[in-house]
Amino acid sequence: MAKEAAPHVLLICYPGQGHINPMIRLAKRIASKGLLVTCSSSSIVRDKLAAASGVSAGGDGVLVGRGRIRFDFLDDHFDGTELDLHNFLRHLETAGRLALAGLLGRQAEAGRPVACIVGNPFLPWATDVAAEAGIPSAVLWVQSCAVFSIYYHFVHGLAEFPREDDPDARFALPGLPALSVADVPSFLLASHPYKVLGDTIQDQYRNMGKASWVFVNSFAELERDVIAALPGVRPRPPQLIPVGPLVELGGHDDDGGVAVRGDLIRAADDCVGWLDAQAPRSVVYASVGSIVMLPAEAVAEMAHGLASSSGRPFLWVVRPDTRALLPEGFLDAAAGRGMVVPWSPQDRVLAHAAVACFLTHCGWNSTLETIAAGVPVVAFPQWGDQCTDAKFLVDVLKMGVHLRAPLRREGVREAVEAVTTGPEAGAMLANARSWSAAARAAVAPGGSSDRHVQAFVDEVSRRAR
Ligand code: UDX
Repeated sequence: MAKEAAPHVLLICYPGQGHINPMIRLAKRIASKGLLVTCSSSSIVRDKLAAASGVSAGGDGVLVGRGRIRFDFLDDHFDGTELDLHNFLRHLETAGRLALAGLLGRQAEAGRPVACIVGNPFLPWATDVAAEAGIPSAVLWVQSCAVFSIYYHFVHGLAEFPREDDPDARFALPGLPALSVADVPSFLLASHPYKVLGDTIQDQYRNMGKASWVFVNSFAELERDVIAALPGVRPRPPQLIPVGPLVELGGHDDDGGVAVRGDLIRAADDCVGWLDAQAPRSVVYASVGSIVMLPAEAVAEMAHGLASSSGRPFLWVVRPDTRALLPEGFLDAAAGRGMVVPWSPQDRVLAHAAVACFLTHCGWNSTLETIAAGVPVVAFPQWGDQCTDAKFLVDVLKMGVHLRAPLRREGVREAVEAVTTGPEAGAMLANARSWSAAARAAVAPGGSSDRHVQAFVDEVSRRAR
């Protein structure tokens, strides 16, 4: 078997959309600089990725710039049984440790030994497997530096967090704006229903100190203050290396015309043609990402708010698991004014000139994507890091407005108006465009994040010689 000439990096992530997208986008950046990159995850997403994105495992992969990307899934044999996150992660670890060692063995036998593993905070055990195989490892933190800092302070007991019985209280961490109960990641609040997430948050830091690089999906200019403050925290956290924003800039320009995508639901490409027929900066784009489940009442209020109140065309992502919650007759009534799709090519939608604003749940990927596209937001966070991301978009970057629960149709209309035609709308658009320019500069050749990726590629190549 001929030995592969390019050093080989294995990227592995938790099998969720919010983790797969940044993994593939980092893979593109690394591959474009000349390395062979294999993307991997649990076998539980193999069929969905094949059906929705045409991803096929094995083989030589596809050319991306000067390198190649391929996929290879863990043989961890999940049957898709519903488990809560805590138990799912435990199963993933038990089966994943063996499966990852097996995958490394297969790569070596095929003449392309893995030179570095880039893991994911939900899979801290990947660092152990790398160490056992004598391979250096890295971690890709897929949320913001701000959330990294907040969770780090929480895990090490370094701060008094606001309590829900004192909604006016504010607390401050170095490099962050004062945060209220509504702004901290909701998993830290006593009343949060997902108690197991406390363990999961703690586990994310389990092996981080052993990794040679801790990458973060952010960019130095965006989170300058918190990045500058982290080295002063004790115990000292690992150094964060920003490599983002890991977004598709306008569709396909990261991968030389080859669209390597990681959608788990097939994207409705026809919505781009529909956007082409709309006036510039007229459309409200609405999506709550891949996991948030809105209650039926909120879905109905959103439907009425988008369709009847705002007076604008809208493109709304209603995933297949939520479609049954749409009010009766809504789709017929909305036809012409609005388009409802099960999944959109969100990068292409946000880059489209017809989009005026993004009503978003503020997942970190969506947050970075709207920053990179320069699209103002209606921030409608539901839980977890989304609450902090919303605070950041509205009060730090000043590129949008909050939409608070409980959702009411009038609230949707008022928020959309505020961000598109209200007295502050022009300033918000200008801020969004200036952050877009900064995001693009960070990943352009020689930009801050591009230099960090290049340094990694150079170091892996040096060690692999
Ligand atoms: C999850 C968490 O909810 C989020 O808070 C965390 O930061 C990452 O993991 P998710 O809720 O799915 O992610 O949100 P987000 O981070 O925004 O990721 C969703 C991804 O799906 C984005 O990259 C977005 O572009 C993509 N998407 C979403 C589509 O391509 N089409 C759609 O219709 C909707």
